[in-house]
Amino acid sequence: MTEFARRILAWYERHARVLPWRVLPGQGVHPNPYAVWVSEIMLQQTRVEAVIPYFARWMERFPTIESLATASEHEVLALWEGLGYYSRARNLHRAARILLTDHGGQLPTNLAALRTLPGIGRYTAAAIASIAFGKDTATLDGNLKRVFARVFDVSLPADSPQGEAALWQLAENHLPSGRAGDYNQALMDLGATVCLPRNPRCLLCPVRELCLAHAQGLQEQRPVLKPKTEIPHKHKAAAVIVEQGKALLNRRSPDGLLGGLWEFPAAEVETSSLEAVSTAIHSAYALRVIPLSPMPAIRHTYTHFRLTETPWLCQLDGSPSASSFCWVALPDLVSYPMGKVDRQIARQLVSLLSSSRS
Ligand code: ADE
Repeated sequence: MTEFARRILAWYERHARVLPWRVLPGQGVHPNPYAVWVSEIMLQQTRVEAVIPYFARWMERFPTIESLATASEHEVLALWEGLGYYSRARNLHRAARILLTDHGGQLPTNLAALRTLPGIGRYTAAAIASIAFGKDTATLDGNLKRVFARVFDVSLPADSPQGEAALWQLAENHLPSGRAGDYNQALMDLGATVCLPRNPRCLLCPVRELCLAHAQGLQEQRPVLKPKTEIPHKHKAAAVIVEQGKALLNRRSPDGLLGGLWEFPAAEVETSSLEAVSTAIHSAYALRVIPLSPMPAIRHTYTHFRLTETPWLCQLDGSPSASSFCWVALPDLVSYPMGKVDRQIARQLVSLLSSSRS
């Protein structure tokens, strides 16, 4: 075992975080593979503290692969609401269905078979194989990249193919055989609690004496990343249409951003004039609306663009034809899964109508 791995494991034995999907080191058992899978998917773009309550609710409602496979997509998305990156939930659901029909309702234990499942890439397959099945496989996520880039002073950009290859190689070179699950989780914890992106807590670090970046005072300059490109800023208008106590929602197509979630019909606009709003909504949804008055704009940043969306109270001129539309009674809006922006519009609408009635 390398000195790096020995120190990492010794640190983990004392400092492992107690997490609901985790079996602490030295217990001699592996955790529930399904729980490991769910947690790894939730943790892909979300911090541990935010994941914990979602994980608890999820495992209570879907305690087994079978219970997830047989649930409706509506319920799966509703339970995921607020975690973002909804393709993760749709892929979990699709994968559970595949496991039920093709794998006897169990996760396969080998890397190649895990990687065939929707939503499971190189990182997640290796995390599951090592943590849940004790396989000797290294893994690499953002936290681990930072640790390796610092300790071994990797100056290639960590988000370039060459940098990634060098970092994967380091993770593999130091993998202690028979202890991969603990090694991988130790590095995840170290990256999340000590080897922080800014102001790393080097005084508490078990590998400080080995850290080549620390020796040169370069820890804050590692990992090197490719220069970021500016993300575009989009302006949208949403049509908020209420008739007889019901709001008109549209179900987004299952693929792509916020796929399968419910929305107020919305389209990109150059200017926020009445004319521009009604033309944009008509060309996006074949829906004729008469904008009446704007509500407060909502700002949100997605991975690839920034959005400012202005909801407009509108009157419908004609009736919606597409089957993706649905009239939803205002008190029922809470149970329709939506992204952050539409949820905020729904809240604004409910409070606007309840204050105008009182
Ligand atoms: N981040 C991603 N996966 C993790 C895990 N299994 N434990 C702690 N942090 C993580």
